Order: sequence, then C-alpha cells, then structure tokens
Amino acid sequence: MYKILKAGKLAGNIYEMVVEAPRVAKRCLPGQFIIVKADEKGERIPLTICDYDREAGTITIVFQPVGASTEKFSKLQAGDSFRDFVGPLGRPSELCTDDLEEVRKKKILFVAGGVGTAPVYPQVKWLHEHGIAADVIVGAKTKDLVILEKELSEVAGNLYVTTDDGSYGRSGMVTKVIDDLHSEGKTYDLCVSIGPMIMMKFCCLTTKKYNLKTIVSMNPIMVDGTGMCGACRIVVGDEVKFACVDGPEFDGHLIDFDAAMKRQTLYKTEEGRALLKLQEGDTHHGGCGNCGGDK
Ligand code: NAD
Ligand code: FES
Repeated sequence: MYKILKAGKLAGNIYEMVVEAPRVAKRCLPGQFIIVKADEKGERIPLTICDYDREAGTITIVFQPVGASTEKFSKLQAGDSFRDFVGPLGRPSELCTDDLEEVRKKKILFVAGGVGTAPVYPQVKWLHEHGIAADVIVGAKTKDLVILEKELSEVAGNLYVTTDDGSYGRSGMVTKVIDDLHSEGKTYDLCVSIGPMIMMKFCCLTTKKYNLKTIVSMNPIMVDGTGMCGACRIVVGDEVKFACVDGPEFDGHLIDFDAAMKRQTLYKTEEGRALLKLQEGDTHHGGCGNCGGDK
C-alpha cells in the first residue's frame, strides 16, 4: 500500500497528492510516469510525475477527474492509501539524460497548458538545479485554473502566464504567446510543449513556422501504460511507436496529431478496436484481450 501524505485541490477540479513511494522517488527522473490503482478492482491510471523528493521518499501527482477511477482518487484524503503505485515508467526527458554541456548551450522554451503544467514543472526544476534557466509559458482557460505559478516562478528564467479569457496575465492561448515572444525578438533552440493534444498540435504548427524543434508528451493517449494494450500506438515520422514504452516524449513535428486523435476516439469502442486491428495488422500490437490484436 502507498500512503497519501497530503491531498488537496490545486485549482478548479485539479487535485494534487503527495504519496509515499520511496523506491519510485529514488529512481525517477522528469518526464517519467507512474501507474496508480486505487484498489484491487480499480482501473490502472498512468500519471506523469509532477515532483519527487528522494530524501522524503515521496512523489507528487496532479490529476483531473475524467472518469470513475480518477473521480474515486479525488475523494481520497491524507492517511488513505493507493493499492498500487508502479514506476518510474517510460523514458526520462532527453534534457535530463543528454550531455549537460550540450543542453547548457540551448535556449529552451516550455509551453505548459492546463493540467499539462504539472509534468512541465519537474523538468524546469531539474534544469534550474543544473544551472539552466528555461523560459516557460503557462496557459489556462481562466485565472482560477492557473496552477503551479509560484513554484515555476522560482525555477524558470522568464515565466509568461496567459489565460484564454484574459482574466490574468497575458490574453489568449499559448500559441499566441509563442508568436508574441517571436515578434518581441526572443529566439529559442528547443521547445517542450505539454498539455492537451489539441494544444500540442497547434503549438507544433506554430513552432514549425520558426523552425523550432518541439518535443511533446503523448501521455494523454495512454491506457494501461505497459506496452500491452496498444492504445498508445502512434506513427512518428515513418516509424510505429508506443508512447508508454518508447516515450512519452517525441519530436512533435514528426507526429500526425489528427491521426492520433482520430485513433484515440476509435480505440474507445470494440468496433473501433477491431477496425484498427484490421488496418494496422502486425503493428497493431495487443495483449489487451479486447480486440485480439495479439493473435
Ligand atoms: P485546457 O483545455 O484548459 O487547455 C490549456 C491551455 O492549452 C489553454 O489555456 C490554451 O492556452 C491551450 N490550448 C487549448 N486548446 C488550444 C488550441 N486549440 N490552440 C492553441 N492552444 C490551445 O486544458 P486542461 O483542461 O487543463 O487539459 C486537460 C488535458 O490535458 C487532458 O486532455 C489531459 O490529457 C491533458 N494532459 C496532458 C499531459 C501530457 O503529458 N501531454 C499531462 C497532463 C494532462
Ligand atoms: Fe501504451 Fe497500452 S498505453 S500500449
């Protein structure tokens, strides 16, 4: 069992929890995720790590209830426990594994949207701890939904907060801020964009104009998070990849977001999974038992 040490709301219906998981905390790096299960019968939910404390042996997770399992998570309090808390899974962000001297030469821009701000935080914090100040754009629908502003302001170079309705910070979506910063003469060597699929799609279309390499996190399409179910199959360039084992981070300019979003919708029904199996053949993957994709 994995004890919840702290539980509360960050904003709106966005929840934050600090969980005792010393083995995960010892080994994890920014960009990796964990799989949480509330009880024996619970669904496996993959969540990107928002923060970790190796000494205290804790992991911080941030989530928004979107189904029965995450709704159940939101009712848990400090003192309650998760049945399973598996990780760290996936590959760490390349910024944390590449040659540090090469990373230091880069001017990096993070673009965080809504709940996607949570996985951006540990990357910016890690860079700060290694003497690298990255700029960060944080976007939210409205003032009350901006999260981790104080925490990010302590580790970012410049922090640009923007709200869709203009109720706080700059006005407009994150893509407008990317354009505005470019007009203001700011240039970058690398962009890391994490948020809803639609945001990452439009970020990539925006950064393509500036020839700015952009990394995205394909966490939103994961289901079981272990390479078994095939839900997170994407085509990156001309290669088939599975977000949970090959990612979750990929070169966003090589991803066909429209195809990924369409596949995500198809995957939700039995008929859709059968169609995907037919279309994708040997590369459909499987093991889920739902579509016979492993046969
Ligand atoms: P949201 O819908 O409030 O959007 C957040 C921001 O993204 C907006 O304020 C805007 O600036 C930008 N955005 C949205 N649509 C855009 C568009 N069409 N063009 C340009 N910019 C756009 O976000 P939310 O409700 O907090 O997000 C929830 C989603 O975030 C879930 O779908 C979840 O899967 C995803 N998420 C992704 C990751 C990841 O690793 N990629 C991690 C956590 C959550
Ligand atoms: Fe990646 Fe299931 S989530 S294969």
